Amino acid sequence: MERKRRLIEPGDLSTGEIFHLLRLANDILADPAKYGERCKGRLLASLFYEPSTRTKFSFDAAMLRLGGQVIGFSDPNTSSAAKGETLADNARVVSCYADVIVVRHPKEGAARHIADYADCPVINAGDGGHQHPTQTLTDLMTIQKHMGRLENLTVGVCGDLKFGRTIHSLVSCLSRFPGMRFVFISPEELQMPAFVKDLLHRNDIPYEETNQLEQAIGSLDILYMTRVQRERFVSEEEYLRLKDYFILTEEKMALAKPDMIVMHPLPRVNEIQRDVDSDPRAVYFDQVKNGMYVRMALILFLLGLDKEA
Ligand code: NCD
Repeated sequence: MERKRRLIEPGDLSTGEIFHLLRLANDILADPAKYGERCKGRLLASLFYEPSTRTKFSFDAAMLRLGGQVIGFSDPNTSSAAKGETLADNARVVSCYADVIVVRHPKEGAARHIADYADCPVINAGDGGHQHPTQTLTDLMTIQKHMGRLENLTVGVCGDLKFGRTIHSLVSCLSRFPGMRFVFISPEELQMPAFVKDLLHRNDIPYEETNQLEQAIGSLDILYMTRVQRERFVSEEEYLRLKDYFILTEEKMALAKPDMIVMHPLPRVNEIQRDVDSDPRAVYFDQVKNGMYVRMALILFLLGLDKEA
């Protein structure tokens, strides 16, 4: 039997497929009505074993706007997981009902495990501190739109680089485009993990590490801010010590290039001051909007409905 397509990490998509998804997402954005019935009669199951507003709403809205329907849960205590059902059985059962499964889970590797047992395509909507590939598609669409290119960019990622799954996926994925350079801005305790740095070494992609946002900001084309991931800390004390390590303010923005963009996957806590929101370089709310369109494109692609007339 042909193996079902899945999106567990950006490496599951070829570069050609990524550009196809971005083109499709932009086409849907330009004329949503054209796609309003494309998923009629199809069902998406969203299994959220970990809290989410944006990502869950974004997938639900994407499927509903394609004319499909959505089932699922956002509190695992209301599913059979609470009775002790394994993820593998969960996956087998849900794929008897649904055409595509979206899963978010606090454990690294959970989405891959579900994909191994499900009989339909599975999309990873975040597995612990590991990967978040649909946020990356959202980010790529945003970068392409605001910078006009996906190459020759100096990208600063700032904050919790250890537990931030969005930037693990983003940096891994951006590393396949030409002329990328990275600046990893974090406290020493929250540095980028080895699995991402090893990938950059293997591909000869330059990066620097620093804990000085003010010194780094002037060289960046993109500043990607992240939240310190409280839920992944073993010690609350350690979280409290590090949570306000970086706060982006308008004073710091004054040191940045006039066309640098500021991104953030949201939710934000304190890491970007509210007055930065009105800076034209702040694009994080536009990022949210792009997320729905790129997920519409992904659902169509995984269901084989992207090429219909
Ligand atoms: C991110 C996540 O869940 O990893 N949020 C999101 O999906 N937009 C980032 C975060 O929670 O900090």
